[in-house]
Amino acid sequence: MVRLHVNVDHIATVREARRDRFPDPIEWALAAERAGALGITCHLREDRRHIQDADLAALRERITTKLNLELSLAPEMIEIARHSGAEAFCLVPENRAEVTTEGGLDVLAERGRLHEIIPRLAQGGAEVSLFIDPDPAQIEASAEVGAAFVELHTGRYANLSGTDRAAELERLRAGAELSHALGLRVNAGHGLDYDNVAPTALLPHVEELNIGFAIVARSLFVGVERAVENMHELIQTARP
Ligand code: PXP
Repeated sequence: MVRLHVNVDHIATVREARRDRFPDPIEWALAAERAGALGITCHLREDRRHIQDADLAALRERITTKLNLELSLAPEMIEIARHSGAEAFCLVPENRAEVTTEGGLDVLAERGRLHEIIPRLAQGGAEVSLFIDPDPAQIEASAEVGAAFVELHTGRYANLSGTDRAAELERLRAGAELSHALGLRVNAGHGLDYDNVAPTALLPHVEELNIGFAIVARSLFVGVERAVENMHELIQTARP
């Protein structure tokens, strides 16, 4: 079964638009869990534009599924992560000017730092994942630095159409196969929505899909429970 992990960042984005106390990403995460989310993901960004440190602590205290923390390689973030109690960490590139994470982590360029960071994050038994493009060189480097998982970046697939999208899906498929052959476990995510999710649920060896924006956006119309249930159903129908 492919597990749906729901990213709650953009509930915090709405709250931070007014620097208010609501909507509360923790209450929304609890509703997502009741509707079938098997994990909750959040990204504590260096600029704290959405999730705040207090949200991370409250999520850890209150959610009952797996907490997956996305973070950059900055020393401050690694220290926070080590004391966060999250069961999973996903290392992502971060650029202050971007609207959302663009491109995957350059594992080849960051090999030195990752060799040191991954064992520190994994010390308490947490799973460490690297968010990468489905590029063979990045996958090989991810295995070499000792990551347990890769999260394959589906953003390009999501933004393309027609034969270009089919070609990117094939790149993701080959990337998932290569990752598995090298002993890496495989997750995927970014830019997935109700129309494009099904083929990604069929990627070989994929264990978890991380989906945020599309679910948050739909929840404005139908409520969080139905938005999560609909996505969960699409994934389970594609790959029971
Ligand atoms: N996976 C990673 C590593 C991400 O950085 C994000 C965005 O925060 C997602 C998945 C979810 O992307 P989206 O919000 O487009 O579903």
